[in-house]
Amino acid sequence: MSTPELRDNDVLVQIHAAGVNLLDSKIRDGEFKLILPYKTPFVLGHDVAGVITKVGARVQQFKVGDEVYARPADHRVGTFAEFIAIKEADVAIKPKNLTMEEAASIPLVGLTAWQALIEKGNLKKGQKVFIQAGSGGVGTFAIQLAKHLGATVATTTSAANIELVKSLGADVVIDYKKDDFEKILHGYDLVLNSQDGKTLEKSLRVLKPGGKLISISGPPDTDFAKEIGAPWFVKLIMRLLSSGVRKKAKRLNVHFSFLFMKANGDQLEKITSLINSGIIKPVMDRVFPFGSTKEALSYIESGRAKGKVVVKIK
Ligand SMILES: NC(=O)c1ccc[n+]([C@@H]2O[C@H](COP(=O)([O-])OP(=O)(O)OC[C@H]3O[C@@H](n4cnc5c(N)ncnc54)[C@H](OP(=O)(O)O)[C@@H]3O)[C@@H](O)[C@H]2O)c1
Repeated sequence: MSTPELRDNDVLVQIHAAGVNLLDSKIRDGEFKLILPYKTPFVLGHDVAGVITKVGARVQQFKVGDEVYARPADHRVGTFAEFIAIKEADVAIKPKNLTMEEAASIPLVGLTAWQALIEKGNLKKGQKVFIQAGSGGVGTFAIQLAKHLGATVATTTSAANIELVKSLGADVVIDYKKDDFEKILHGYDLVLNSQDGKTLEKSLRVLKPGGKLISISGPPDTDFAKEIGAPWFVKLIMRLLSSGVRKKAKRLNVHFSFLFMKANGDQLEKITSLINSGIIKPVMDRVFPFGSTKEALSYIESGRAKGKVVVKIK
C-alpha cells in the first residue's frame, strides 16, 4: 500500500503497535455490512499507538514526533499497516507510563467503557453496575473505570480469571460456568451487556425499576439507526431486531439501549490522565508480530483472551 494521503486536519502516524478487536473479525466476515458498508479492498485495524511523522495544514494540537494513540473513525480505519492518516480530533497523546504495545490496547475498549458507563450510563458513586465478562478487553477496562467512579461492581468470569477480576476491583464475582447471575444480582442501576441474547434477557431482570441496560453486542436499535443516518430499510430492520428486548424492558420498567462506540480524542485524553496517574492499568494477554496478524485475530475469536491482544508493527 502507498503511504496514505493527508487531509488538512489529519496527522500521519507511523504505527508501532495495533490493538486487535473482535470488530475486525466481524467486519472481515461481513457481519457489519448494514452498519459499516466498507468497499473492498480496505485495511482492517481499529486501534493504534505510534509517532506522528507529518501534520496537515490545519492541525493545531499535535506536532511531528508526538507519541500518540487513537481509535480512528469508522471508514478511516486501517491500523494493521505501517502508516495511517487520522483526524486530529480522534487522536490523543499516549500515556507516558505505557509501552507502545500497551497503549495500542486501550483506545477502542477504553472509549467503549467510557461511553457506556459515563456518557450513556451516567454511573454515579454508590450505584451498582453489572459488567459482563470482566476478564475480556472491554471488561478489564470497564471494571477499573467503574471502581474509579465509586460504583459497586459485579462481574462474570470463569474460574481461571476470578483472581484477575478481583485484582481489578470487582466486588461481586460470579463464575458463569457454575452459578446463574440472575439468582445472585438484584436491584442493579446499570448493566453493560456484551454477551448473547439469552444473557441480555436475564440481565434486564437484575435491574431495579428505572435501571439501564446498555448493550454493546446488539441488537442495534432505532436510535442508533438514526445516529448513523441509516436508510429507511435499515431503520426498519433495527426496529424489528430490537422490538422483543424493548418490549421486555418496557414491561420491567427498565431502559434498553444499544451502543456502538465512536472515535473521540477528547475522551481519550481523559483516559490518558487516568492511566498516567495509575488509576487504570492495561491488561495484556499476548503480543503477536505483524506477520502473524491473522493468528492474532484467530486467537481473540476463541473467546478466551484475558485482557487485550496486540500486534507489534515497528
Ligand atoms: N458495540 C461496541 O461499540 C463494542 C465495543 C467493543 C466490543 N464490543 C463487543 O463486545 C463483546 C466483548 O468484547 P471484548 O473485546 O471485551 O471481548 P474479548 O476480550 O474477546 O472477551 C473475551 C473474554 O470473555 C470472557 N467470556 C467468554 N464468554 C463469557 C461468558 N459467557 N460470560 C462471561 N465471560 C465470558 C472470557 O473469559 P473466560 O475465558 O473466563 O470465559 C474472555 O476473558 C464482543 O462481542 C465485541 O465485539 C462491542
